[in-house]
Amino acid sequence: MRLKIITIDGPAGAGKTTVSKLLSKKLGCVYVDTGALYRGVAFEIQRQDIDWKNDTALEKFLKGLDLNFVMEKDSFILMSSGRNITDFIRTPEISMLASSSSARPQVRAALLDIQRNIAKTKDAIFEGRDMGTVVFPDAAVKFFLFADLNIRAKRRFDEMPDETKDINRVKKEIEIRDHNDSQRESAPLTPAKDAFKINASFLTIEQVVDKMLKLIEKA
Ligand code: DC
Repeated sequence: MRLKIITIDGPAGAGKTTVSKLLSKKLGCVYVDTGALYRGVAFEIQRQDIDWKNDTALEKFLKGLDLNFVMEKDSFILMSSGRNITDFIRTPEISMLASSSSARPQVRAALLDIQRNIAKTKDAIFEGRDMGTVVFPDAAVKFFLFADLNIRAKRRFDEMPDETKDINRVKKEIEIRDHNDSQRESAPLTPAKDAFKINASFLTIEQVVDKMLKLIEKA
């Protein structure tokens, strides 16, 4: 039987990860957060102090990069050279660095096989920015999930445990990432032509997942 791939693309804070987790439970498949890979690259760039805007330095760095996902229970953890880095990749600095360094085509090329290899053995939901457009153009069902900037900023703000958090800063950072991710030349964030577009601004997670399940059933 042909393996089923579902893609969910969209901007930061639209709810892709929460939706993917719930949808994967309902469908009994795994979900893959491809943003974690770009965050893993950013984490290593920061840790090794790499001049990633320099082609030679970036290419040497990418040759030595050893990132992969390991299945633990029903989700993936991110390993870098055998070390679990899952807990270190969610800081605002890593978010910004992942967004800017992911515009480099060499970085995108280095992560392509990791993503496609997972799809060879498993039915999966892949979430990211270019899943339906570049990585899995033949996916069974494609979604593009988006929401109003103010609503995305408020959701991110509410999730942050940090006492010093500032809603305007969160909004500004999302705006910069939206711009970086959608204006870059290499695999920009844009809906695939055949994607179902869902505006999640005024929907609960359950409502988004219900909508998706109905569309998947019909597909
Ligand atoms: O989904 P996220 O916020 O964890 O992703 C972090 C950054 O990684 C995002 O701002 C852009 C980049 N990214 C990408 O370029 N392509 C993907 N498929 C996933 C993420």
